[in-house]
Amino acid sequence: MTGDHERAKEPLTDGGAAGADEVALDPWGSSSVSDYRKLFEEFGIETFDELLEDVPHPHYLMRRGVIFGHRDYRPVLEAMAEDEPFAVLSGFMPTGDPHIGHKLVFDEIIWHQQQGGDAYALIADLEAHAARGLSWDEIDEHARDYLLSLLALGFDPEEGTLYRQSTNREVQDLAFELGIDANFSELGAIYGFDGETDVAHMQSVVTQMADILYPQLEEPKPTVIPVGPDQDPHVRLARDLATRMRFFGVTTAYASFEATDTELEVVAAAYDARETYAEDPDLPRCGEAAEWLADAESEAVSADGVEGVVEDVLETVPDNVRGTTISKLENAGMEPLRPRTRFLDRRATDDAFAALIETIDGEKRVFDEHVDAFDLVHDEAEALAREIELANGGYGFLPPSSIYHRFMTGLTGGKMSSSIPASHISLLDDPEDGYDKVKAATTGGRETAELQRELGGKADECPVYELYAYLLAGDDDEFAKLVYDECVGGDRLCGDCKEQAAQLMKEFLAEHQEKREEVADLLEAADIELESTRRG
Ligand code: TRP
Ligand code: SF4
Repeated sequence: MTGDHERAKEPLTDGGAAGADEVALDPWGSSSVSDYRKLFEEFGIETFDELLEDVPHPHYLMRRGVIFGHRDYRPVLEAMAEDEPFAVLSGFMPTGDPHIGHKLVFDEIIWHQQQGGDAYALIADLEAHAARGLSWDEIDEHARDYLLSLLALGFDPEEGTLYRQSTNREVQDLAFELGIDANFSELGAIYGFDGETDVAHMQSVVTQMADILYPQLEEPKPTVIPVGPDQDPHVRLARDLATRMRFFGVTTAYASFEATDTELEVVAAAYDARETYAEDPDLPRCGEAAEWLADAESEAVSADGVEGVVEDVLETVPDNVRGTTISKLENAGMEPLRPRTRFLDRRATDDAFAALIETIDGEKRVFDEHVDAFDLVHDEAEALAREIELANGGYGFLPPSSIYHRFMTGLTGGKMSSSIPASHISLLDDPEDGYDKVKAATTGGRETAELQRELGGKADECPVYELYAYLLAGDDDEFAKLVYDECVGGDRLCGDCKEQAAQLMKEFLAEHQEKREEVADLLEAADIELESTRRG
């Protein structure tokens, strides 16, 4: 969500992002994003806004636009609404203390667990060891701290699953399988790996792919991965791999020949326009469609009475695609154009392909690498393809979904970073230190109290306001809005405002740390190894 976007929306309770970096999504690089709009335009992340009203009881991080984007979150929402299985999973590299930025992700996992999801939280110890060079002792110490905070914030370890990458054999086995389908140039293109990149770093990528798909090992289900946008490359690759692992692809086709997705669009458009050219519109011929398309190329399409979608398709598809489609249709000649559901054999075993053919009801036609079914709608076909795959030793993965939260601005301005202690508040900070850090924070205030009263403060650029919106106001939207309105209206001065925030932070930390102690036994009892036996 961008500043402009926020202004169009009431109430305005989310903080602005004040990072200064170019947009580059690098999982191991600096994680601040200056222009969230680019994430939508360049990377195809969708705005969370568009589906907010369909979320049953949205978390305050959703309501305030802190969770600003998603990929394919709808299937998760639908499962939630219909009481069907879904999962949430995220992972943490134990490289330092858990801080208030990590709390966002903890809260997201916990919220999905409370909505009925199977919740997974993992310690990315292999990644921390490989990509960040941490020793196993350091990893153990930090891992414990992450887990205590997660439990203190409300994660239920009896219902949910905790694991560390290094001891999860199933994850490692799945990583190996996925590694067969990803090659070096692909990882190079996505992550900028080159000849100097060590092998373990690449292994940690396939391990993360396996983490993301792990909730679906028992049965495929919608899964949401709450992360910062820096992790989006991982999400995209995981979605890709999930699809690559599928035995069958399901598409719609109109004739027996194979066509690319864009060619299909053209054929579909020609099919939709059949009334305008077919001698018998109930039985349009491929050859007739080819002729019509060729004519349409020279004449104005609309003159043919073709409107709307059809016209759009014909106008947007590149000329060469039109050309290849026309020749495919010409070759098919007298064959009728007839919509059908097509199962493409991507990587099915012979047995699975045979089982699929066997199971399809109604009229069907079998080809070398695909089967066409005439009496099956798309959704039924998808379900059937998955069923056959699962019964024949496949995974049947659904592409995982994701939601993205904004990065918090550092208390000193710039980005919040674990390596700059004054920029963040650790969940382990002494409450007094937390108080002091807030008091010392940069604000969006004016030079003088007079100016502040006259012009109002810049809450959208204020790290202190962010603390209220992301954490201190908790579920209380009224309070967050009050702080915002008072600030921009000039009724709130930074000194008092920081005092109030500092006090709330102190209380939050004291309470959180008390809860950490209370859940220590719960963690001991949980099914996760707290000490590694590895060396190095
Ligand atoms: N790469 C993530 C990070 O840098 C950690 C991680 C590992 C992860 N596996 C994951 C995150 C699976 C989400 C899902 O913090
Ligand atoms: Fe920030 Fe509060 Fe000052 Fe407004 S009044 S700029 S929210 S510190």
